[in-house]
Amino acid sequence: MSSTPASGAGAPEEPQGLEHWQGDALVVGGGGIGLALLEALAQRAPGLRLWATSRRPWPAGSVVPPERVLDLDLTDDSSLEACTSRLQDEDVRLRLVINTAGLLHDGALQPEKRLQQLRRDSLQRLFSVNAYGPVLLARALEPLLPRQKPLHFASLSARVGSIGDNRLGGWYGYRAAKAAQNQLLRCLALEWERRLPLACVSLLHPGTTATALSEPFRRSVPAEQLFTPERAAHHLLAVIAAQTPAHSGRFLAWDGTLIPW
Ligand SMILES: NC(=O)c1ccc[n+]([C@@H]2O[C@H](COP(=O)([O-])OP(=O)(O)OC[C@H]3O[C@@H](n4cnc5c(N)ncnc54)[C@H](OP(=O)(O)O)[C@@H]3O)[C@@H](O)[C@H]2O)c1
Repeated sequence: MSSTPASGAGAPEEPQGLEHWQGDALVVGGGGIGLALLEALAQRAPGLRLWATSRRPWPAGSVVPPERVLDLDLTDDSSLEACTSRLQDEDVRLRLVINTAGLLHDGALQPEKRLQQLRRDSLQRLFSVNAYGPVLLARALEPLLPRQKPLHFASLSARVGSIGDNRLGGWYGYRAAKAAQNQLLRCLALEWERRLPLACVSLLHPGTTATALSEPFRRSVPAEQLFTPERAAHHLLAVIAAQTPAHSGRFLAWDGTLIPW
C-alpha cells in the first residue's frame, strides 16, 4: 500500500519524551494490546498515574492496582457516566487516553466473507464498540481534560478500515465500523483544535498482533510480520510520543506512516 511519512515540515514544536509526561493516563480495554501498553507505560512514563478499564477479572500483579481499574462497557451510557463520576471523584486530570477496545469476532459474530452473511444485529454490535464507543468515550471523558495542558487521545483503529486501501473486500462490518470511527474522531480532532488547542487525537493501526482478536485469522501472516503485544505497544507509544497538536486527527500505522482514509 502507499504510505507517506507523517513527520517533517510543519511540526511547530518538538514532542516531549514520555519520560517527562505528568498526570493521569487511562487505557481502555484489558486485552492483549491494552495490557501490554500499561506495562510499557509503567516502564517508560513513570510520571503518569495509570488507570485501566476492563470487564474481565484483572490479572494479579498488574502494574495497575485493582483500585484503579474501572468496569467499563463502551456500549452502555450508564457505564460511561459511572466511569466519568469515579474519575472525577479521584480528581483525575487526563494527560493520556488510549482506547484499545475493539470487536472483530465473538461467538456467532464472525467477519463476513460475502454479502449474504451480513446481519443487522452483527453490524449494530460492531458499530457500537468500534465506531460509537471511542467518540462516546471522548464525550464522557471531556470534563476530565485540561484546556491549558497537553493531552493525547489515541484510539486503536485498523488498516482494514482504510477505504482508499481496501483492495480485498470482505469484513464489511469491521472495516466500515473502523472507517466510521476514523471519521468521528477526525471531527473530534477538528473541534478540539478550537476548544482544547493543546490536544492531539490519533487513530492508530497497531500492526497484526498476536492477541485473541487476531487469533483465528493470522495463519497466513508471516512470522516476522506478526507482532507480540509488547512489540506493538512499544511501536504505538513511540508514535504517540512523536505527535504534537499540529498532528491531531491523523490515521497512522505502527511505524508512524500515514494511512490513506
Ligand atoms: N490484534 C490485531 O492484529 C489488531 C490489528 C488491527 C487493529 N487492532 C485493534 O487493536 C485494538 C486492540 O485489540 P487487541 O488485539 O488487543 O484485541 P483483544 O485482546 O481482543 O482486546 C480487545 C479489547 O476490547 C475490549 N472490548 C470489547 N468490547 C468492549 C466493550 N463493549 N466495552 C469495553 N471494552 C470492550 C475488550 O475489553 P475487556 O478487557 O473488557 O474484555 C478487550 O480489552 C482493537 O481496537 C482492534 O480492533 C488489532
